[in-house]
Amino acid sequence: MAATLIDGKAFAAKVRGQVAEHVARLKEQNGITPGLAVVLVGEDPASQVYVRSKGKQTVEVGMNSYEHKLEADTSEADLLALIDQLNNDASVHGILVQLPLPKHLDEDLVINSIAPEKDVDGFHISNVGLLGTGQKSMVPCTPLGCLMMLRDHHGSLSGMDAVVIGRSNIVGKPMAQLLLGDSCTVTIAHSRTEDLPDVVRRADIVVAAVGRPEMVPGDWIKEGATVIDVGINRIERDGKNVLVGDVDFASAAERAGAITPVPGGVGPMTIACLLANTVTACCRANNLAEPEGLTA
Ligand code: GUN
Repeated sequence: MAATLIDGKAFAAKVRGQVAEHVARLKEQNGITPGLAVVLVGEDPASQVYVRSKGKQTVEVGMNSYEHKLEADTSEADLLALIDQLNNDASVHGILVQLPLPKHLDEDLVINSIAPEKDVDGFHISNVGLLGTGQKSMVPCTPLGCLMMLRDHHGSLSGMDAVVIGRSNIVGKPMAQLLLGDSCTVTIAHSRTEDLPDVVRRADIVVAAVGRPEMVPGDWIKEGATVIDVGINRIERDGKNVLVGDVDFASAAERAGAITPVPGGVGPMTIACLLANTVTACCRANNLAEPEGLTA
């Protein structure tokens, strides 16, 4: 394998360490403990795993974790009342409503009812607009994690040709905004893009976020390019359940200069960035200096 492996697991541990240091300082110097509230509606098994993991890591870095588990048939009015209560609770600096929500709840309405300054997912329409206009905002966790890894590997990204494959609100679009903010020339490719292989072949940076197992083969990758694989797809191979990314890792690693593995690449960075966003929100709420290197 020619490519350098970008170790997201190790990088996430480093980010959590920085968050923990900042939390300790906030407690000692300011008497403030950052708090993250996570709201889970229903019993989706994958969401339960994520929420448990978020709660555990929140406590491990020294922050307060508040978990609110609501029945699957919770009414929209009850959910909005809980969010309103959390918006007005000074001990809560970050609020995350786990998605997807049960079908009878309007996700956009719910997300936009979170106070923007507590929206540690960066999904509120105000944060989307602030990011799009280059203003200070809360930045979605997965793209923020990708940006941190790219900055760490390259230093400056200025002038690089970046292709983001996927146009989701959660990853593709904010990722493109962040890369633009770091002065990349950015293309957003998607299922209707013509000549996708050629578009990808000119990229110095490829961020794959489509959710299709191994759809990007190695021969689309420019020699020496950096490949960030956001996909986490569970497939059956040789009778076993395995996790693979959106990029065919084995062939891409032959051509890339650097590449994130799946698992152990982008995945662990998402929760680390959620913790970073919570500390950032806490500092902003208290007019204190933000942690360096943990924001966009
Ligand atoms: N479900 C899957 N990923 C996410 C995420 O990043 N944030 C929220 N709120 N829900 C999710």
